[in-house]
Amino acid sequence: MTSSATAEAHPNIALVKYWGKEDDVLNIPSSPSLSLTIDRLSAHTRVLPGSDSFLLNGELVQDPKTRAWTDRIRRELHLPAFGIESSTNFPVGSGLASSAAGFAALVTAVDSAFELGMSDAERSRWARLGSASAARSIFGGFCALEPRDGDCETSALFGRSHWDLEVVVAVTSRRRKPVSSTEGMVRCKETSPYFASWLQSCGEDFAAMRPAVASKDFEHVGEIAESNCLRMHAVMMGAVPPLVYWNATTLAVIDSLVLLREAGIRVFYTIDAGPQVKAVCADGSGAFVRERLRKVPGVLEAVLCRVGEGARVKGN
Ligand code: DP6
Repeated sequence: MTSSATAEAHPNIALVKYWGKEDDVLNIPSSPSLSLTIDRLSAHTRVLPGSDSFLLNGELVQDPKTRAWTDRIRRELHLPAFGIESSTNFPVGSGLASSAAGFAALVTAVDSAFELGMSDAERSRWARLGSASAARSIFGGFCALEPRDGDCETSALFGRSHWDLEVVVAVTSRRRKPVSSTEGMVRCKETSPYFASWLQSCGEDFAAMRPAVASKDFEHVGEIAESNCLRMHAVMMGAVPPLVYWNATTLAVIDSLVLLREAGIRVFYTIDAGPQVKAVCADGSGAFVRERLRKVPGVLEAVLCRVGEGARVKGN
């Protein structure tokens, strides 16, 4: 290790979701997904020589996923022990894609600290081994993640300047979710009667989403994204025991976005494995939508984001 290195990465918001794995060890999704990386929310991760401790937002943590990942990369690339110091400016483990930003920043910092010279595709593969959605946060703008022949391919579809969308992230709880995404996916695959049809509809949604994003057809992108999100939550709710990631405020936010849309504001919503709502806005209406969402009782914070950059090194 030549020196310490720090990297920054952002969460990405899936417009067509990944929910279900074909291979748990290699972390290969069962269906293709498509996301946009946002700015403003970020993980800063520093990798430094010495002890193999993991400090997350100032606290020493034992995280089995991070431990398994560091053991694996050290073993495969013959690296010495290294410590990790990571901080986020948003709540972790609550459906805001902290593991996506976290693993994308981590592999970028490891690559720089050990001068490994990884390509974007290699960093994306390593990020995926930590958390599959992290493969997409290596890239800015719009990104696709597709299972292919027992492996997985990530493609940077369009850069951040392709479309000046805004995303308002409405935080409705800062609590850690009781069931992680990894565990939730296993439960859905094993018990939800809707799982097989969910995978089929993801393939169709992905095929329709790509050209809709290419042609910046906001209404069509919104229709596909909302239906894909609601179907994923239907699969979750159909699991045994059921997985309900929403709270009452989640529904209140959806309600106010539907009212805004009826009033002519071009906006759609999507929700990941947690109670937070992400409102995607066209026409520069993000600030207006944020003010509206701030007033919804139960909303703790509403953050206005734009389409963001991929993971990058920020120094030592
Ligand atoms: C609902 O990537 O966090 O946000 O691969 O097990 O770490 P693991 O899961 P993770 O799941 C993300 C699920 C999602 C949808 C998405 O981002 O595509």
